[in-house]
Amino acid sequence: MSDNRFILEKYDPTTSYFQQKKFDCGNKLINKFVHGSLKKQVSRHFSQAYVLLDLDDNERFSAFYNLTSFKLQGSELDTISQGSLPRDIPCVRLVMLGVNTSLQNKGLGRKLMSDALHRVHRASKEIGIYGLYLDAEPSAINFYLSLGFNRLDEANTDGSNVNETGKMFLSIDVINALLD
Ligand SMILES: CC(C)(COP(=O)(O)OP(=O)(O)OC[C@H]1O[C@@H](n2cnc3c(N)ncnc32)[C@H](O)[C@@H]1OP(=O)(O)O)[C@@H](O)C(=O)NCCC(=O)NCCS
Repeated sequence: MSDNRFILEKYDPTTSYFQQKKFDCGNKLINKFVHGSLKKQVSRHFSQAYVLLDLDDNERFSAFYNLTSFKLQGSELDTISQGSLPRDIPCVRLVMLGVNTSLQNKGLGRKLMSDALHRVHRASKEIGIYGLYLDAEPSAINFYLSLGFNRLDEANTDGSNVNETGKMFLSIDVINALLD
């Protein structure tokens, strides 16, 4: 796959993207969101989205992610944070991420996440951001672990999880260490 086959650009809700309504990443909820809600969400400023267009296929809508601001409870970070934290923690939330099934496992998800980390890194120089939070689909938890995210499950004293969720977090310290 050539490096310049794809362009990643800010999603413009006034544009009609080729095959956006046919986007299929294998996850029904994410597909439905892209077909019916993404345009409205972005035009109402509830999130900003970034879209990957395939230049070999009429600039087809091939992958996307979207980011929003988010308030995390300090107690949610107990398992990964030393020292006390305020009750409300300002974060960025990765709302959704999806790659068309025909293009999965080619490094595009990783490429989009790298773009997201650069954006969070830049924004954190202007606005207080403690890290990047997301709610992962069970099938994608390993993908995010491989990128350095921590799980925010409640741990038992023996290290096992009492309450398995897909809540995951990457602190701004780690992002800065990668990108500063
Ligand atoms: C999860 C998703 C975005 C990953 O995108 P992708 O383009 O297939 O991922 P990449 O090719 O960049 O993979 C990066 C690495 O993660 C691994 N990986 C990808 N998907 C994985 C999964 N579901 N579970 C475990 N590892 C996974 C790859 O093997 C690769 O590892 P490597 O670099 O060591 O070879 C994509 O599979 C997808 O759209 N899934 C359906 C929607 C979804 O679950 N989105 C996440 C919602 S929170």
